[in-house]
Amino acid sequence: MKGMISPSMMCADFLNLEKSLRAFEELEIEYLHIDIMDGSFVPNFTLGTDYVRKLKSATNIPVDIHLMIDRPEDKLEWFDFGRGDYVSFHYEATNHVHRTIQQVKLRGGKPMLALNPATPLCVLEDVIMDLEGVLIMMVNPGFAGQSLIPQTVDKVSRLRRLYPEMMIEVDGNVSFENAKILKNAGANIFVAGSSSIFEENGSLISNTGKLRECID
Ligand code: DX5
Ligand code: ZN
Repeated sequence: MKGMISPSMMCADFLNLEKSLRAFEELEIEYLHIDIMDGSFVPNFTLGTDYVRKLKSATNIPVDIHLMIDRPEDKLEWFDFGRGDYVSFHYEATNHVHRTIQQVKLRGGKPMLALNPATPLCVLEDVIMDLEGVLIMMVNPGFAGQSLIPQTVDKVSRLRRLYPEMMIEVDGNVSFENAKILKNAGANIFVAGSSSIFEENGSLISNTGKLRECID
């Protein structure tokens, strides 16, 4: 499967967002990863509903909304998304996984289920047929700049073996080195944050080219 890049917008240069969006369009970036945190499911706040709305009005690049919020089923309508957009929510954040998947689909979104590092793949068994993707957290959700949890690599490999056609997104410390390892493990959507395309030593354009080499 072709590797796709989804820049973690919480790591973007907020003072030059327009410039970054134009660069992403030039670089044919596939998705924009928007982390939404509620301070309850994870101990942090990041981007919000107005940010999603603004971003969707500023570019045609589809969004990849990562809801790190409790009871996502009650809050989906707060967010702008539609055909072609990924919406991921956490298995651990709701009693109603199947109903939330249905709600995302009703609005044309592509439902993705996100799993924290300790959540086993078996939770996917009875909903995998309704999903457009699975997001595997490589770190404990909530903060950029963390280190990958080693056993999450094998989890990606097992997931790929179980579901050869599934879109598998990896999120958290997807550095250039880790991206190569995760590509070999079977991931095909890479959340690119401070460990890769927003890495300080390179430019957005050179870092994106470097990441492309790691995932192609
Ligand atoms: C983690 C965030 C990610 C990611 C940021 O909760 O969802 O956006 O960690 O990228 P890194 O880990 O490379 O700073
Ligand atoms: Zn994320």
